Amino acid sequence: MTLQFIHISDTHLLAPDQVKDFTGIQPELALYAEQVLSLPYHTYTAAEMLVRQINGLPVHVDFVLHTGDIAGESDIDYARMAQLFQQINYPVIYVPGNHDRGADISSLTQSPSSPLDQHEINGVQLVCLDSTHADIPDAGWLDDDQLNQLEMICRSDDDRPLIVAVHHHPLPIGVQWLDDLRLGNGEVLHSILMQARHRLCGVFHGHIHHSIDMMKDGILYSSVASAAYQFTGWPGHRQTSLDMAADPGFNVVTITHDQTFVRHHRYRLLP
Ligand SMILES: [Fe+2]
Ligand SMILES: [Fe+2]
Repeated sequence: MTLQFIHISDTHLLAPDQVKDFTGIQPELALYAEQVLSLPYHTYTAAEMLVRQINGLPVHVDFVLHTGDIAGESDIDYARMAQLFQQINYPVIYVPGNHDRGADISSLTQSPSSPLDQHEINGVQLVCLDSTHADIPDAGWLDDDQLNQLEMICRSDDDRPLIVAVHHHPLPIGVQWLDDLRLGNGEVLHSILMQARHRLCGVFHGHIHHSIDMMKDGILYSSVASAAYQFTGWPGHRQTSLDMAADPGFNVVTITHDQTFVRHHRYRLLP
């Protein structure tokens, strides 16, 4: 085995004593907001359960990858998230989501972060992209700087295995409500990644609150369930809502010299 990591996403953590203020929210998101407030548990409780689940795994992993929508929109949420996730037995690498726009993600890692963030772990290159955009409320967009940097990475003479992480789903999943909020220039990203297809082990993303694997032109796009709450929505559906019956989850990703394994794990949050 070359590398093993846990893929988590969409913890949407609110501090225990906070109730998010949804006044002024766009009308089309009002139903969603109302449903989040009526969850039978708090997202902080869900995050605590996630930490226990990760620390209780019977296998060792090299790191945890969080693909965004980490917390709410207040600094207090991020401070509490940092405190809580410090209890995880492994280092956590964070990618910003649309709900983290403007948040200081580097405060979670105590290190400066740049829009395109690079790591090397066990000889594997990990590239984290920032798909949040100030002018596009909840959908994603990769700016030219990141696309140019990524193009150089993908064209370079490099034989290290490559992993890419981004919050928004680059390609449509067939549920219109979610696809309207996807990465607007996902096809451009895909065409750049094609240049590194021979060493690309997968693109890992969140945002859709679904656990889906998709292949296009030999490139794996893998998403993970939310650690807080799931969405309904099947291919062909126009609308979605919260899926109160679906359990939270995370994926365990194993990279070997010639294969990528994604094990989708779900666990009960409510008795
Ligand atoms: Fe989310
Ligand atoms: Fe999101």
